Amino acid sequence: MKSFCTFFILLALLLLVDSQSSSKDEDQELMSKAFQFVSGFNSSWFQTAQIQEINLSSKNLSGNISWKYLRNMSKLEALDLSGNFLHGQVPNWFWRSSTLLVVNLSNNRLGGSINPISQNPSSFSPLQNLNLSNNRFTNQLHLSAFSNLKSLDLSHNNLVALPSGFQNLSNLRHLDLSNCNIKGNIKSISSLTSLSYLDLSNNTLNGSFPSDFPPLKNIKFLNISRNNFKASTTLDRFKKFGKWAFIHAGQNFNYNYNASKTPTLHSSPPQPEHIHIQADKKKKKRPREKQKSKHRTRSMIAALSCASALVVVAMCMCVGWCCRRKRQLAKRSKWAISKPVPLSMKMEKSGPFEFETESGTSWVADLKEPSSAPVVVFEKPLMNLTFVDLLAATSHFGKDSLLAEGRCGPVYRAVLPGDIHVAIKVLENARYVHHHDAVALFLHLSQLKHPNLLPLSGYCIAGKEKLVLCEFMANGDLGRWLQELPTGETNVEDWSGDTWEIIQNGGVSRAEKMGWPIRHRIAVGVARGLAFLHHAGSRPVVHGHLVTSNVLLGDDLEPRIADFGFRKLGRESAAANCWTETDVYCFGVVLMELVTGREGTAETVVWVRKAVREGDAVKALDERLKLGGGDSESEMVETLRVAYLCTAESPGKRPSMQQVLGLLKDIHPD
Ligand SMILES: *[C@@H]1O[C@H](CO)[C@@H](O)[C@H](O)[C@H]1NC(C)=O
Ligand SMILES: *[C@@H]1O[C@H](CO)[C@@H](O)[C@H](O)[C@H]1NC(C)=O
Ligand SMILES: *[C@@H]1O[C@H](CO)[C@@H](O)[C@H](O)[C@H]1NC(C)=O
Ligand SMILES: *[C@@H]1O[C@H](CO)[C@@H](O)[C@H](O)[C@H]1NC(C)=O
Ligand SMILES: *[C@@H]1O[C@H](CO)[C@@H](O)[C@H](O)[C@H]1NC(C)=O
Ligand SMILES: *[C@@H]1O[C@H](CO)[C@@H](O)[C@H](O)[C@H]1NC(C)=O
Ligand SMILES: *[C@@H]1O[C@H](CO)[C@@H](O)[C@H](O)[C@H]1NC(C)=O
Ligand SMILES: *[C@@H]1O[C@H](CO)[C@@H](O)[C@H](O)[C@H]1NC(C)=O
Ligand SMILES: *[C@@H]1O[C@H](CO)[C@@H](O)[C@H](O)[C@H]1NC(C)=O
Ligand SMILES: *[C@@H]1O[C@H](CO)[C@@H](O)[C@H](O)[C@H]1NC(C)=O
Ligand SMILES: *[C@@H]1O[C@H](CO)[C@@H](O)[C@H](O)[C@H]1NC(C)=O
Ligand SMILES: *[C@@H]1O[C@H](CO)[C@@H](O)[C@H](O)[C@H]1NC(C)=O
Repeated sequence: MKSFCTFFILLALLLLVDSQSSSKDEDQELMSKAFQFVSGFNSSWFQTAQIQEINLSSKNLSGNISWKYLRNMSKLEALDLSGNFLHGQVPNWFWRSSTLLVVNLSNNRLGGSINPISQNPSSFSPLQNLNLSNNRFTNQLHLSAFSNLKSLDLSHNNLVALPSGFQNLSNLRHLDLSNCNIKGNIKSISSLTSLSYLDLSNNTLNGSFPSDFPPLKNIKFLNISRNNFKASTTLDRFKKFGKWAFIHAGQNFNYNYNASKTPTLHSSPPQPEHIHIQADKKKKKRPREKQKSKHRTRSMIAALSCASALVVVAMCMCVGWCCRRKRQLAKRSKWAISKPVPLSMKMEKSGPFEFETESGTSWVADLKEPSSAPVVVFEKPLMNLTFVDLLAATSHFGKDSLLAEGRCGPVYRAVLPGDIHVAIKVLENARYVHHHDAVALFLHLSQLKHPNLLPLSGYCIAGKEKLVLCEFMANGDLGRWLQELPTGETNVEDWSGDTWEIIQNGGVSRAEKMGWPIRHRIAVGVARGLAFLHHAGSRPVVHGHLVTSNVLLGDDLEPRIADFGFRKLGRESAAANCWTETDVYCFGVVLMELVTGREGTAETVVWVRKAVREGDAVKALDERLKLGGGDSESEMVETLRVAYLCTAESPGKRPSMQQVLGLLKDIHPD
C-alpha cells in the first residue's frame, strides 16, 4: 500500500510537466484578453505561469482595460500601470480582490467608484499601498474595507468630497489628498494615529487646527496650504513643519512666527515612506483563502500545478547563524561562558557604543541613551531588562561572546539574569526597518510554535539596531554536527570533547549517532518544521535560507529550524523572488548533506543528482554511516531520490513540504 502511494505521488509529479504548461497558457490568455483593447501591449512580456506582479509603468499604453479578466488571476499581488494613457472605469468589484497588496494606477485617465462594501458590508481588503494620483476619480470613495492600507495617494483627482471610512485605516502612514477639490470638514481624519505624512494642500477643507487633526507629534511631513482652516493656537509649536506647510491655510495662520530668526525655515518633503510589501503580506489574514484552498485541492495535480514556474533567485536574504569559516571560533566560545570584562577596559578600545566583531565589521549603535532600550522577553513579560543588561551579559558585545558572524550580522551568546541562556542576533540589514513593522514581525515570529522550530524568545530595539533573542542550543548546528561526526571505528582522538559531552548529556549513544535512523529522524524533523511554516498558517511563511547551519540540534538531537522569517526585513527582500519552492530546494540540499555527509555545495547537488539519475546513488552515501543491516542502504538511496525531486530545476516540479514529509515517513517507519 505504502509503495503504491509513493508510486502515485511520483507519477503525479511527472504529470506536472503537462499540467504546468496548460496553466501557463491560461494565465497568458487572461493577460492577452485583459489588454486586448490596449495599444502598446505585448503579450510576450508575460511568460510566467502564475503572475504575481504586473508592472507596466510608463509603457505608453493607451485604451481601456478589460478588467474582468484580471479577476481570475488568483495570485496577483501587485499592479502598477502608472504613467500611461489608460482610460475607462475601474469596476467596483476590483477593490474586493483578496490578493492585491499594491495598486498603482497613477497618471492615467481612469475613473470609477471605490466602494468595496456596497454589496458586502464585511468586505476586507489586504491592500497596503494604493496610488490613484492624477486620474479622474470623482465618485465618493468608501475606504473602510482597506484596514491594512499604509499608503494612500489620491492627489490630483476631482474627488469633491472627503472619502469615508478613515476611522478604519488604523495603519495608514502616508496620506496625500492634495489637489482634490475637496470641500468640507477635516475632522474625520483625526483618528489616523499612525500618520507620518499628510498632504491636504489645495482643497477647500475647513475645521480647526490643530484640534480636528490627527496627533501632529508623529507627523513628519505636513502640508495644509490653500484651505479654509482656522488656527486656534499660535504656530510656534509647529515650526518643525516649516512655513511652507501653512501658506494660505486659512484664518489666523500667522506664519511669520519668529520671522527674524528663521526667515527661511524650510522643510523638504521626505521621500514617500518605503513600505515593505513583502514584509507584511505573509502575515495578513486572508478571509477568502479558504474558498480558494477548496478550489486548489480539487485534485492533487491541480494543487501541484499551482506551484509557480518563476525562476528562483537563490540569493534570498538571510540571517546566517553560523558561517562555516567561523566554525572554529564558534567552537571555542561555545563551551565557556565568557566572563564580563570591565566596561572601562572595553571603552578604551572603541567608543562606548561601537563594537568590533571578529571580521572587522563594526556595528555602531547610533544611540543617545542605548541603555534605556527595553528588552522584551515574550514568555517572561515581567523581566525588567534593558540594553545595558545585554551589554553586561556579552562583555560589551565582545569577541569572547561572539558565536558566529552571520551574513546579516553577528550572533552573540549571553546568559541573562535568571540563568537564561540565549543567542543574540544583531539584524544589521534591518536598521532602516520601521520600529512598528519590526515589532509586528517579531511578535508574529514568536507565535510560530512547533517542536521543530526555534522561535524568537525576545527582542530589543535600541535606536536603529534591532536585536533578537533565541534560546541557546548547546548541541550546535546540524552542519557542524555532520562535519564533526567521527570517521573511524574507535578512534577516540577524533572525538572532540564537545562531542563526548553531547553523548553523555543527551542520552544518544555513540552507535546510535553513527547510524542511519538518527539521520532519518533529523530529516523528518526538519521536514516537519518546514511543512509547519509552509502549511499551518493562513499564509505560508517562507524560510528563505534553510541550510544545515540554520538547523540547530536539541538535547536529544531533535532538530529545530532557526532564522525563519527575517528574510522579510531586508530592504532588497521586496525584489527577491523567494517562495516555498525555494525552501523545498534548500531542504533537498540539506537531505543530500545528511545522506552523503558532504557540504551542500552546488557541485554536490549536481553530483548527487547525476548519481541518482544514473541509478548509482549508492556511491554517494556517507561512508561514516554504519549500515545497520536490513534495508538501510535502500532507505538512504530512496531518501536521495526525494532530495532529487526537491532539487528539480523547475520550481513547479518540486513537491510540497507536506508531500516530502509523507515520502520521508514512508521510507523508514519509526
Ligand atoms: C513583442 O515582443 C517581442 C519580443 O520582445 C517581439 O519579437 C515582437 O515583435 C513584439 N510584438 C509586437 C506586436 O510588438
Ligand atoms: C514598476 O517599475 C518601475 C520602473 O521600472 C519602478 O519604478 C516601480 O517601482 C515598479 N513598481 C512596483 C510596484 O514595483
Ligand atoms: C506611444 O503610442 C502612440 C500610439 O498609441 C504612438 O503614436 C507613439 O509614437 C508612442 N510613443 C512612443 C514614445 O513610443
Ligand atoms: C473600451 O474602448 C473601446 C474603444 O476605445 C470601446 O469601444 C469600448 O466600449 C470600451 N469599453 C469600456 C468597457 O469602456
Ligand atoms: C473565471 O473563473 C470562473 C470559474 O473558475 C469562470 O466561471 C469564469 O468564466 C472566469 N472568468 C473569466 C473572465 O475568465
Ligand atoms: C507606484 O506606487 C507604488 C506604491 O506607492 C510604488 O511602489 C511604485 O514605485 C509606484 N510606481 C512608480 C512608477 O512610481
Ligand atoms: C504615486 O505614483 C507616482 C508616480 O506615478 C509617484 O510619483 C508618487 O510618489 C506615488 N505616491 C506614493 C505615495 O508612492
Ligand atoms: C469600521 O469601523 C467601525 C467602527 O469604528 C466598525 O463598526 C466597522 O465595522 C468597521 N468596518 C470595517 C469594514 O472594518
Ligand atoms: C465646512 O464646509 C462645509 C461645506 O463647505 C460647510 O457646510 C460647513 O459649514 C463648514 N464648516 C465650518 C466650521 O466652517
Ligand atoms: C490648486 O487646484 C486648482 C484646481 O483645483 C488648480 O487649478 C491650481 O493650479 C492648484 N494650485 C496649486 C498651487 O497647485
Ligand atoms: C504645500 O503645497 C503648496 C501648494 O498647494 C506648495 O506651494 C508648498 O510648497 C507645499 N509645501 C510644502 C512644505 O511642500
Ligand atoms: C524665536 O525662537 C527661539 C527659540 O525657538 C526663542 O528663543 C526666541 O525667543 C524666539 N523669538 C521670538 C521673537 O519669538
